[in-house]
Amino acid sequence: MNSRPLYILYTLQILLLVSVSRAYNDISDESLRAIPRPGPDFDIKDGKILAPILRPRVPGSEGSTAVRNHFIDFFRNDLPQWKVTFQNSTSKTPVTGDDEIPFINVITTRDPPWSNPGEVGYLTLVAHYDSKISPDGFIGATDSAAPCAMLMHAARTLDGALTRKWASMREAGIKQDDYDMGLEEHKGIQIILLDGEEAFGTWTATDSIYGSRSLASEMESTFHPALSTYRNALSSIHLFMLLDLLGEGSPAPTVPSYFKTTHWAYQKMATLEDRLRGQSLFTSSPNHPSKRGTLSQGVSKDNKAKLKRKEPKWFYDLDKSNNRWMGGMIEDDHLPFMARGVDILHVIPAPFPTVWHKEVDDGEHLDMDTVGDWTVLVTAFAAEWLELEGHMDKKSTDKRAIGDKHAQEIISKTEL
Ligand SMILES: *[C@@H]1O[C@H](CO)[C@@H](O)[C@H](O)[C@H]1NC(C)=O
Ligand SMILES: [Zn+2]
Repeated sequence: MNSRPLYILYTLQILLLVSVSRAYNDISDESLRAIPRPGPDFDIKDGKILAPILRPRVPGSEGSTAVRNHFIDFFRNDLPQWKVTFQNSTSKTPVTGDDEIPFINVITTRDPPWSNPGEVGYLTLVAHYDSKISPDGFIGATDSAAPCAMLMHAARTLDGALTRKWASMREAGIKQDDYDMGLEEHKGIQIILLDGEEAFGTWTATDSIYGSRSLASEMESTFHPALSTYRNALSSIHLFMLLDLLGEGSPAPTVPSYFKTTHWAYQKMATLEDRLRGQSLFTSSPNHPSKRGTLSQGVSKDNKAKLKRKEPKWFYDLDKSNNRWMGGMIEDDHLPFMARGVDILHVIPAPFPTVWHKEVDDGEHLDMDTVGDWTVLVTAFAAEWLELEGHMDKKSTDKRAIGDKHAQEIISKTEL
Protein backbone atom coordinates (compact mmCIF):
# COMPACT_ATOMS: atom_id res chain seq x y z
CA MET A 1 0.00 0.00 0.00
CA ASN A 2 2.85 2.32 0.71
CA SER A 3 4.98 1.79 -2.28
CA ARG A 4 2.48 2.82 -4.87
CA PRO A 5 1.88 6.41 -3.77
CA LEU A 6 5.59 6.81 -3.27
CA TYR A 7 6.21 5.58 -6.74
CA ILE A 8 3.77 8.11 -8.12
CA LEU A 9 5.41 10.91 -6.18
CA TYR A 10 8.75 9.91 -7.58
CA THR A 11 7.59 9.98 -11.18
CA LEU A 12 5.91 13.31 -10.62
CA GLN A 13 9.14 14.73 -9.37
CA ILE A 14 10.99 13.62 -12.46
CA LEU A 15 8.31 15.08 -14.68
CA LEU A 16 8.50 18.37 -12.83
CA LEU A 17 12.25 18.53 -13.21
CA VAL A 18 11.98 17.94 -16.91
CA SER A 19 9.29 20.56 -17.42
CA VAL A 20 11.14 23.17 -15.36
CA SER A 21 14.22 22.94 -17.52
CA ARG A 22 12.36 22.97 -20.84
CA ALA A 23 9.25 25.13 -20.84
CA TYR A 24 9.23 28.67 -19.59
CA ASN A 25 6.81 29.84 -16.98
CA ASP A 26 4.14 32.48 -17.11
CA ILE A 27 5.19 35.71 -15.55
CA SER A 28 3.34 36.61 -12.31
CA ASP A 29 0.78 39.37 -11.90
CA GLU A 30 3.17 41.08 -9.54
CA SER A 31 5.87 41.17 -12.22
CA LEU A 32 3.40 42.49 -14.79
CA ARG A 33 2.57 45.34 -12.44
CA ALA A 34 6.27 46.03 -11.94
CA ILE A 35 6.88 46.78 -15.63
CA PRO A 36 7.46 50.54 -15.79
CA ARG A 37 5.49 52.51 -18.36
CA PRO A 38 7.52 54.91 -20.52
CA GLY A 39 6.31 58.11 -18.83
CA PRO A 40 7.99 61.46 -19.58
CA ASP A 41 10.72 59.85 -21.70
CA PHE A 42 8.08 59.42 -24.41
CA ASP A 43 7.02 63.05 -24.45
CA ILE A 44 6.87 63.94 -28.15
CA LYS A 45 8.41 67.39 -27.65
CA ASP A 46 11.23 66.81 -25.18
CA GLY A 47 11.07 63.18 -24.05
CA LYS A 48 14.55 61.70 -23.77
CA ILE A 49 13.77 58.54 -25.76
CA LEU A 50 11.05 59.34 -28.30
CA ALA A 51 11.42 63.03 -29.19
CA PRO A 52 14.84 62.70 -30.91
CA ILE A 53 13.43 60.04 -33.28
CA LEU A 54 10.48 62.18 -34.40
CA ARG A 55 12.21 63.85 -37.34
CA PRO A 56 12.78 62.92 -40.98
CA ARG A 57 15.50 60.23 -41.15
CA VAL A 58 15.84 59.20 -44.77
CA PRO A 59 18.84 56.88 -45.28
CA GLY A 60 22.04 58.82 -45.82
CA SER A 61 20.59 62.10 -44.51
CA GLU A 62 21.71 64.19 -41.58
CA GLY A 63 18.52 63.21 -39.74
CA SER A 64 19.39 59.54 -40.16
CA THR A 65 22.83 60.09 -38.62
CA ALA A 66 21.37 62.08 -35.72
CA VAL A 67 18.79 59.40 -34.91
CA ARG A 68 21.38 56.65 -35.12
CA ASN A 69 23.67 58.62 -32.79
CA HIS A 70 20.73 58.93 -30.41
CA PHE A 71 20.45 55.11 -30.29
CA ILE A 72 24.19 54.72 -29.81
CA ASP A 73 24.33 57.31 -27.01
CA PHE A 74 21.37 55.70 -25.27
CA PHE A 75 22.94 52.24 -25.23
CA ARG A 76 26.46 53.48 -24.39
CA ASN A 77 25.26 55.70 -21.52
CA ASP A 78 22.22 53.89 -20.10
CA LEU A 79 22.92 50.28 -21.06
CA PRO A 80 26.71 49.93 -21.10
CA GLN A 81 26.56 46.13 -20.85
CA TRP A 82 24.98 45.86 -24.28
CA LYS A 83 27.22 45.33 -27.26
CA VAL A 84 26.45 47.75 -30.10
CA THR A 85 27.53 46.89 -33.64
CA PHE A 86 26.70 48.12 -37.12
CA GLN A 87 26.09 46.35 -40.37
CA ASN A 88 26.62 48.62 -43.33
CA SER A 89 25.88 48.42 -47.03
CA THR A 90 25.25 50.79 -49.91
CA SER A 91 22.90 50.68 -52.85
CA LYS A 92 21.60 52.82 -55.66
CA THR A 93 17.89 53.52 -55.61
CA PRO A 94 15.43 54.25 -58.46
CA VAL A 95 15.14 57.92 -57.45
CA THR A 96 18.67 58.88 -56.38
CA GLY A 97 20.55 58.32 -59.64
CA ASP A 98 24.15 57.16 -59.48
CA ASP A 99 24.60 57.94 -55.80
CA GLU A 100 25.38 55.02 -53.53
CA ILE A 101 23.05 55.46 -50.55
CA PRO A 102 24.42 54.11 -47.24
CA PHE A 103 22.24 51.79 -45.14
CA ILE A 104 23.39 51.31 -41.56
CA ASN A 105 21.69 48.76 -39.33
CA VAL A 106 22.21 49.03 -35.57
CA ILE A 107 22.47 45.71 -33.72
CA THR A 108 22.54 45.61 -29.93
CA THR A 109 22.86 42.49 -27.81
CA ARG A 110 23.17 41.41 -24.22
CA ASP A 111 24.47 37.90 -23.50
CA PRO A 112 24.81 35.96 -20.24
CA PRO A 113 28.20 37.02 -18.82
CA TRP A 114 29.59 33.47 -18.96
CA SER A 115 28.53 32.67 -22.52
CA ASN A 116 30.78 32.33 -25.50
CA PRO A 117 29.81 33.66 -28.93
CA GLY A 118 27.86 31.04 -30.79
CA GLU A 119 26.26 29.60 -27.66
CA VAL A 120 23.59 32.23 -27.14
CA GLY A 121 20.10 31.94 -28.60
CA TYR A 122 18.27 35.23 -29.02
CA LEU A 123 14.89 36.73 -28.78
CA THR A 124 15.42 39.29 -31.52
CA LEU A 125 13.23 42.39 -31.36
CA VAL A 126 13.20 44.42 -34.55
CA ALA A 127 11.91 47.73 -35.92
CA HIS A 128 13.04 50.00 -38.76
CA TYR A 129 14.30 53.49 -38.00
CA ASP A 130 14.44 55.05 -41.46
CA SER A 131 11.60 57.26 -42.64
CA LYS A 132 10.01 57.48 -46.08
CA ILE A 133 11.46 60.06 -48.48
CA SER A 134 7.98 61.32 -49.44
CA PRO A 135 5.77 63.16 -48.65
CA ASP A 136 8.31 65.88 -47.91
CA GLY A 137 8.99 66.18 -44.18
CA PHE A 138 7.36 62.82 -43.42
CA ILE A 139 7.94 61.85 -39.76
CA GLY A 140 6.69 58.25 -39.66
CA ALA A 141 5.72 58.26 -35.99
CA THR A 142 4.00 54.86 -36.16
CA ASP A 143 6.30 53.94 -39.07
CA SER A 144 8.44 53.20 -37.04
CA ALA A 145 9.69 55.89 -34.63
CA ALA A 146 7.35 54.73 -31.86
CA PRO A 147 8.28 51.03 -32.22
CA CYS A 148 12.00 51.99 -31.98
CA ALA A 149 11.27 53.92 -28.77
CA MET A 150 9.28 50.97 -27.39
CA LEU A 151 12.27 48.70 -27.93
CA MET A 152 14.66 51.15 -26.26
CA HIS A 153 12.45 51.38 -23.22
CA ALA A 154 11.94 47.61 -23.13
CA ALA A 155 15.72 47.16 -23.30
CA ARG A 156 16.19 49.33 -20.24
CA THR A 157 13.60 47.40 -18.20
CA LEU A 158 14.95 44.01 -19.26
CA ASP A 159 18.54 45.10 -18.62
CA GLY A 160 18.00 45.56 -14.89
CA ALA A 161 16.13 42.26 -14.57
CA LEU A 162 18.81 40.37 -16.53
CA THR A 163 21.54 41.81 -14.31
CA ARG A 164 19.67 40.64 -11.20
CA LYS A 165 18.88 37.22 -12.66
CA TRP A 166 22.41 36.47 -13.81
CA ALA A 167 23.90 37.71 -10.52
CA SER A 168 21.56 35.49 -8.51
CA MET A 169 22.39 32.51 -10.72
CA ARG A 170 26.08 33.10 -10.04
CA GLU A 171 25.39 33.31 -6.32
CA ALA A 172 23.39 30.12 -6.44
CA GLY A 173 26.47 28.50 -7.94
CA ILE A 174 25.13 27.63 -11.34
CA LYS A 175 28.24 26.58 -13.10
CA GLN A 176 29.50 26.41 -16.61
CA ASP A 177 29.07 22.61 -16.38
CA ASP A 178 25.31 22.96 -16.04
CA TYR A 179 25.27 24.80 -19.32
CA ASP A 180 27.62 22.43 -21.05
CA MET A 181 25.38 19.56 -19.99
CA GLY A 182 22.41 21.36 -21.46
CA LEU A 183 20.72 21.82 -18.09
CA GLU A 184 20.43 25.51 -18.70
CA GLU A 185 20.05 27.39 -21.93
CA HIS A 186 22.05 30.42 -22.90
CA LYS A 187 19.34 32.94 -23.59
CA GLY A 188 20.15 36.46 -24.63
CA ILE A 189 18.37 39.46 -26.06
CA GLN A 190 19.05 41.21 -29.33
CA ILE A 191 17.52 44.42 -30.60
CA ILE A 192 17.92 45.32 -34.25
CA LEU A 193 17.10 48.78 -35.56
CA LEU A 194 17.02 48.48 -39.33
CA ASP A 195 17.73 51.10 -41.98
CA GLY A 196 16.21 51.40 -45.45
CA GLU A 197 12.89 49.59 -45.00
CA GLU A 198 10.93 52.12 -47.05
CA ALA A 199 10.87 52.19 -50.82
CA PHE A 200 12.34 55.34 -52.40
CA GLY A 201 9.93 55.11 -55.33
CA THR A 202 7.23 52.45 -55.60
CA TRP A 203 7.66 49.34 -53.43
CA THR A 204 9.33 46.51 -55.35
CA ALA A 205 11.57 43.62 -54.33
CA THR A 206 14.65 45.72 -55.13
CA ASP A 207 13.34 49.10 -53.96
CA SER A 208 12.54 48.29 -50.30
CA ILE A 209 13.99 46.64 -47.18
CA TYR A 210 17.59 47.53 -48.20
CA GLY A 211 19.01 47.14 -44.69
CA SER A 212 17.24 43.92 -43.87
CA ARG A 213 18.24 42.22 -47.14
CA SER A 214 21.89 43.06 -46.55
CA LEU A 215 21.80 42.04 -42.88
CA ALA A 216 20.09 38.67 -43.39
CA SER A 217 22.60 37.75 -46.06
CA GLU A 218 25.58 38.84 -43.94
CA MET A 219 24.29 37.07 -40.82
CA GLU A 220 23.92 33.88 -42.80
CA SER A 221 27.57 33.98 -43.82
CA THR A 222 28.89 35.09 -40.41
CA PHE A 223 29.93 31.75 -38.94
CA HIS A 224 30.44 31.10 -35.25
CA PRO A 225 33.54 29.17 -34.14
CA ALA A 226 33.50 25.44 -34.93
CA LEU A 227 31.51 23.30 -32.45
CA SER A 228 29.31 26.25 -31.45
CA THR A 229 25.68 25.60 -30.53
CA TYR A 230 24.57 27.76 -33.44
CA ARG A 231 26.46 27.67 -36.70
CA ASN A 232 25.94 31.27 -37.78
CA ALA A 233 24.54 34.58 -36.58
CA LEU A 234 21.25 33.89 -38.35
CA SER A 235 20.62 30.55 -36.65
CA SER A 236 21.18 32.17 -33.23
CA ILE A 237 17.81 33.89 -33.69
CA HIS A 238 15.10 31.86 -31.93
CA LEU A 239 12.35 34.29 -32.76
CA PHE A 240 12.43 37.39 -34.95
CA MET A 241 9.75 39.66 -33.58
CA LEU A 242 9.12 42.55 -35.93
CA LEU A 243 7.17 45.59 -34.75
CA ASP A 244 5.79 47.96 -37.38
CA LEU A 245 3.06 50.61 -37.72
CA LEU A 246 2.23 50.76 -34.01
CA GLY A 247 1.00 53.72 -31.98
CA GLU A 248 -2.36 54.68 -33.45
CA GLY A 249 -5.09 54.40 -30.84
CA SER A 250 -8.29 54.78 -32.77
CA PRO A 251 -9.41 52.58 -34.37
CA ALA A 252 -7.77 50.10 -32.00
CA PRO A 253 -5.13 47.99 -33.80
CA THR A 254 -5.96 44.43 -34.78
CA VAL A 255 -3.01 42.12 -35.37
CA PRO A 256 -3.58 38.89 -37.32
CA SER A 257 -1.57 35.74 -36.66
CA TYR A 258 0.42 35.44 -39.87
CA PHE A 259 2.46 32.28 -39.41
CA LYS A 260 1.61 28.84 -38.12
CA THR A 261 5.15 28.16 -36.86
CA THR A 262 4.97 31.11 -34.47
CA HIS A 263 1.34 30.89 -33.46
CA TRP A 264 2.63 29.79 -30.03
CA ALA A 265 4.24 33.23 -29.61
CA TYR A 266 1.10 34.94 -30.91
CA GLN A 267 -0.89 33.06 -28.27
CA LYS A 268 1.53 34.22 -25.58
CA MET A 269 1.02 37.82 -26.70
CA ALA A 270 -2.76 37.35 -26.66
CA THR A 271 -2.67 35.87 -23.16
CA LEU A 272 -0.47 38.66 -21.85
CA GLU A 273 -2.70 41.28 -23.47
CA ASP A 274 -5.69 39.71 -21.79
CA ARG A 275 -3.99 39.60 -18.38
CA LEU A 276 -2.79 43.22 -18.65
CA ARG A 277 -6.30 44.37 -19.57
CA GLY A 278 -7.70 42.31 -16.71
CA GLN A 279 -5.44 44.11 -14.24
CA SER A 280 -6.25 47.57 -15.59
CA LEU A 281 -2.67 47.89 -16.83
CA PHE A 282 -3.75 48.88 -20.36
CA THR A 283 -4.43 52.59 -20.12
CA SER A 284 -5.75 52.69 -23.71
CA SER A 285 -8.67 50.49 -22.66
CA PRO A 286 -12.03 52.30 -22.78
CA ASN A 287 -12.74 50.57 -19.46
CA HIS A 288 -9.56 51.77 -17.78
CA PRO A 289 -10.33 53.80 -14.64
CA SER A 290 -8.62 56.83 -16.18
CA LYS A 291 -11.22 56.77 -18.95
CA ARG A 292 -14.27 55.86 -16.84
CA GLY A 293 -13.44 57.38 -13.46
CA THR A 294 -15.78 60.36 -13.46
CA LEU A 295 -18.38 58.60 -15.58
CA SER A 296 -19.03 55.82 -13.08
CA GLN A 297 -18.88 57.86 -9.88
CA GLY A 298 -21.99 57.43 -7.76
CA VAL A 299 -23.39 54.85 -10.14
CA SER A 300 -24.77 51.60 -8.72
CA LYS A 301 -22.99 48.32 -9.37
CA ASP A 302 -25.64 47.19 -11.84
CA ASN A 303 -25.42 50.35 -13.84
CA LYS A 304 -21.64 50.20 -13.75
CA ALA A 305 -21.77 46.87 -15.56
CA LYS A 306 -23.95 48.47 -18.22
CA LEU A 307 -21.46 51.29 -18.62
CA LYS A 308 -18.73 48.78 -19.46
CA ARG A 309 -17.63 49.33 -23.02
CA LYS A 310 -16.55 46.67 -25.46
CA GLU A 311 -12.95 45.77 -24.60
CA PRO A 312 -10.69 45.83 -27.68
CA LYS A 313 -8.57 42.80 -28.49
CA TRP A 314 -5.38 43.55 -30.42
CA PHE A 315 -4.45 39.86 -30.66
CA TYR A 316 -7.87 38.64 -31.70
CA ASP A 317 -6.85 35.94 -34.15
CA LEU A 318 -6.45 32.96 -31.82
CA ASP A 319 -8.58 30.29 -33.39
CA LYS A 320 -6.87 29.67 -36.68
CA SER A 321 -8.15 26.53 -38.32
CA ASN A 322 -5.56 24.68 -40.38
CA ASN A 323 -6.69 25.94 -43.75
CA ARG A 324 -6.55 29.61 -42.84
CA TRP A 325 -2.77 29.93 -42.91
CA MET A 326 -2.35 30.63 -46.61
CA GLY A 327 -1.84 34.14 -47.94
CA GLY A 328 -2.51 37.37 -46.14
CA MET A 329 1.17 38.07 -45.62
CA ILE A 330 2.49 41.62 -45.51
CA GLU A 331 5.80 42.45 -47.17
CA ASP A 332 8.21 43.85 -44.62
CA ASP A 333 11.70 43.53 -43.11
CA HIS A 334 11.12 39.92 -42.07
CA LEU A 335 11.11 38.58 -45.65
CA PRO A 336 14.87 37.97 -46.12
CA PHE A 337 15.02 36.32 -42.70
CA MET A 338 11.96 34.17 -43.31
CA ALA A 339 13.36 33.06 -46.66
CA ARG A 340 16.35 31.71 -44.70
CA GLY A 341 14.21 29.74 -42.28
CA VAL A 342 14.03 32.13 -39.30
CA ASP A 343 10.84 32.02 -37.20
CA ILE A 344 8.93 35.29 -37.48
CA LEU A 345 6.33 36.96 -35.30
CA HIS A 346 5.09 39.90 -37.34
CA VAL A 347 3.44 42.42 -35.05
CA ILE A 348 1.75 44.71 -37.58
CA PRO A 349 -1.91 45.64 -37.59
CA ALA A 350 -4.19 44.86 -40.51
CA PRO A 351 -5.74 47.11 -41.61
CA PHE A 352 -2.82 49.55 -41.38
CA PRO A 353 -3.19 52.71 -39.30
CA THR A 354 -5.33 55.39 -40.96
CA VAL A 355 -2.29 57.73 -40.90
CA TRP A 356 -0.17 55.26 -42.89
CA HIS A 357 2.26 57.01 -45.29
CA LYS A 358 0.46 60.31 -44.80
CA GLU A 359 1.88 63.58 -43.50
CA VAL A 360 -0.26 63.18 -40.39
CA ASP A 361 1.77 60.17 -39.21
CA ASP A 362 3.51 62.47 -36.73
CA GLY A 363 4.01 62.75 -32.97
CA GLU A 364 0.74 64.60 -32.42
CA HIS A 365 -1.22 61.70 -33.92
CA LEU A 366 0.30 59.05 -31.68
CA ASP A 367 -1.92 57.79 -28.90
CA MET A 368 0.43 57.74 -25.93
CA ASP A 369 -1.74 55.30 -23.96
CA THR A 370 -1.52 52.86 -26.85
CA VAL A 371 2.23 53.43 -27.27
CA GLY A 372 2.76 52.79 -23.54
CA ASP A 373 0.59 49.68 -23.61
CA TRP A 374 2.55 48.25 -26.54
CA THR A 375 5.77 48.91 -24.64
CA VAL A 376 4.53 47.06 -21.56
CA LEU A 377 3.18 44.15 -23.63
CA VAL A 378 6.40 43.64 -25.58
CA THR A 379 8.44 43.93 -22.37
CA ALA A 380 6.21 41.33 -20.70
CA PHE A 381 6.64 38.92 -23.61
CA ALA A 382 10.42 39.32 -23.54
CA ALA A 383 10.52 38.97 -19.75
CA GLU A 384 8.68 35.66 -20.03
CA TRP A 385 10.90 34.42 -22.83
CA LEU A 386 14.03 35.38 -20.87
CA GLU A 387 12.57 33.79 -17.71
CA LEU A 388 12.89 36.92 -15.60
CA GLU A 389 10.21 35.98 -13.09
CA GLY A 390 11.41 36.98 -9.63
CA HIS A 391 13.83 39.51 -11.07
CA MET A 392 11.60 42.25 -12.40
CA ASP A 393 12.02 45.46 -10.50
CA LYS A 394 9.54 45.34 -7.65
CA LYS A 395 10.45 48.46 -5.74
CA SER A 396 11.49 50.34 -8.79
CA THR A 397 14.70 52.23 -8.27
CA ASP A 398 14.13 53.56 -11.73
CA LYS A 399 13.45 57.21 -10.96
CA ARG A 400 12.45 57.88 -14.55
CA ALA A 401 9.30 55.82 -14.07
CA ILE A 402 8.26 57.06 -10.65
CA GLY A 403 6.06 59.91 -11.86
CA ASP A 404 4.14 57.51 -14.02
CA LYS A 405 3.86 54.91 -11.25
CA HIS A 406 2.44 57.51 -8.95
CA ALA A 407 -0.22 58.28 -11.55
CA GLN A 408 -1.06 54.56 -11.76
CA GLU A 409 -1.48 54.39 -8.00
CA ILE A 410 -3.88 57.28 -8.01
CA ILE A 411 -5.84 55.67 -10.79
CA SER A 412 -6.23 52.37 -9.00
CA LYS A 413 -7.25 54.18 -5.81
CA THR A 414 -10.07 56.04 -7.55
CA GLU A 415 -11.21 52.67 -8.84
CA LEU A 416 -11.78 51.55 -5.25
C1 LIG B 1 29.29 51.53 -40.31
O1 LIG B 1 28.84 52.87 -40.29
C2 LIG B 1 28.98 53.50 -39.02
C3 LIG B 1 28.32 54.84 -39.10
O2 LIG B 1 28.81 55.59 -40.15
C4 LIG B 1 30.47 53.59 -38.66
O3 LIG B 1 30.61 54.20 -37.41
C5 LIG B 1 31.03 52.20 -38.63
O4 LIG B 1 32.39 52.26 -38.39
C6 LIG B 1 30.75 51.46 -39.93
N1 LIG B 1 31.13 50.08 -39.72
C7 LIG B 1 31.82 49.41 -40.58
C8 LIG B 1 32.12 47.99 -40.21
O5 LIG B 1 32.23 49.89 -41.61
ZN1 LIG C 1 6.28 52.76 -44.18
